[in-house]
Amino acid sequence: MHCEEEIAKGLYWIGGDDRRLGIFEGGLPVPDGMSYNNYLLLDDKTVLLDTIDRAVEERFFETVNYLLDGRPLDYIIVQHMEPDHSASLKQMATMHPEATLVCTRLCKTLIGQFFGEELAERAQVVTEGDSLETGTHTLAFATAPMVHWPEVMVTYDVQDKILFSADAFGSFGALDGCLYDDLWDYDSLLPEMRRYYTNIVGKYGTQVTELLDKAATLDIETICPLHGPILREYIPEIVEAYKHWASYEPEDQGVVIAYASVYGGTRDVAEKLAFKLSDLGIHDLALFDLSVTDPSYVLSEAFRVSNIVLASVTYNAGMFPAMESTLAEFTTHNLRSRKFSIIQNGSWGPNAGRLIKEELDKIPGTQYVGEMFTIKSRMRDDQDAELEALAEAIAESVKNPTAPIEVKLGEVEEEAKPAPIVGAVRPVKLSAPPTVAPAVNPVAPSGIPATPGGIPFAPGFKPTATAAPAPKPVEAVQQPKTKIIQIWRCTFCGYQVEIEKGKEDMTKFQCPICLRVGEFMLVREKEVPIA
Ligand code: FEO
Repeated sequence: MHCEEEIAKGLYWIGGDDRRLGIFEGGLPVPDGMSYNNYLLLDDKTVLLDTIDRAVEERFFETVNYLLDGRPLDYIIVQHMEPDHSASLKQMATMHPEATLVCTRLCKTLIGQFFGEELAERAQVVTEGDSLETGTHTLAFATAPMVHWPEVMVTYDVQDKILFSADAFGSFGALDGCLYDDLWDYDSLLPEMRRYYTNIVGKYGTQVTELLDKAATLDIETICPLHGPILREYIPEIVEAYKHWASYEPEDQGVVIAYASVYGGTRDVAEKLAFKLSDLGIHDLALFDLSVTDPSYVLSEAFRVSNIVLASVTYNAGMFPAMESTLAEFTTHNLRSRKFSIIQNGSWGPNAGRLIKEELDKIPGTQYVGEMFTIKSRMRDDQDAELEALAEAIAESVKNPTAPIEVKLGEVEEEAKPAPIVGAVRPVKLSAPPTVAPAVNPVAPSGIPATPGGIPFAPGFKPTATAAPAPKPVEAVQQPKTKIIQIWRCTFCGYQVEIEKGKEDMTKFQCPICLRVGEFMLVREKEVPIA
């Protein structure tokens, strides 16, 4: 059978829903199913935009053939090679040997890896600004590396002002027959769009921002993503939400309390804190028991709000595994610029809080609110005032987000000790700027300072100048207590790596994601203690 919806003259949606899929991409729960969108343009030339997941391929094949009605398929545009869209590419291409594949250069490589060189040889490589004339339509291409894989491109139909956005602007959940966003309540649509964004491309805010900048130059009336409803009503609101997510700025002043508890002692403190916050007028509150809530939901809410409270029992001298996996989601997805508070429990050796803080310190822009709250087995009644003080500090931070931040560098330097966090609000570990000689880095004709190896610095980055040679010490040489860690970013795919200064020749360093060599730019440096 065939199933299609004509969304513009000669342009058809031909996707499908999978409601049997419990876990998307091997790790993300999709209780409301998943939709896969594809589009077929019947112009003078016939153009298929992406293929589909195996789960729903049968009807997809039948619909393509029904709509073609005996015409050849001239082009298959492959915007994204992830198998939820390309698993059926080889079969479709085999059914239509006349079709030319259109994709980026890296996508052609991936086609070869997935399906063999014979299919890859059918690819016509396009890049930024190239276009395909199909008769009455012009399809213009723009690259979108790391949204969500490095080979991704998006396609703009100049005549109908439609952006085919690949994974961008997608959502979890089946369509259930409601193809357009205006058939949905915006407030019910947004949470699964946010969870999709944060978990699929949340790590790549810089690259998403670049795509948003490109989209801002276009007159867009419709966005056709590869998942979720077609957007035509809520485009301004959703683009605005994307700007928040991509910049890691919270959407709302609110609090997420995420706790990991074994026998309820930690849970009870988390809940009591929630009531205290509510009493103080904070009602944008979400509590998560990490033993029962998948980290993808916690990450999504953590992207939304300004303040996060993490509460964990100490377990095998570490933090509880569910807290560990949630924290890993925060760090791997670059959840920056959040205000954290920490509660720890440890019947004989509370240690979870220190370990939580060590992980949070890795995220740029982390700030802490209130003192670390520690219980041993159960909260005592005489700790009530201490918990009240924590609640007041969090409430104040939520209500006055731009209030001056109290910086206590000396105390932060003592981060290795399992001591309480002190102070109302303070930033992640900082170090005083080193005393340096005038900058000695060469300046390229463009005016951009360059490293000695000729690699450009990221815009806005201020490199640490090389210190003037110090006079030889008369007495024993002091061993350095700190080292410089450099953060380098692959200019092609956006992968970031931290490397101790001078330990690698970055002109020869190979990106483990896109395999390009020597294409890294220096983003920033940080000074860390030598362990
Ligand atoms: Fe929908 Fe990145 O695949």
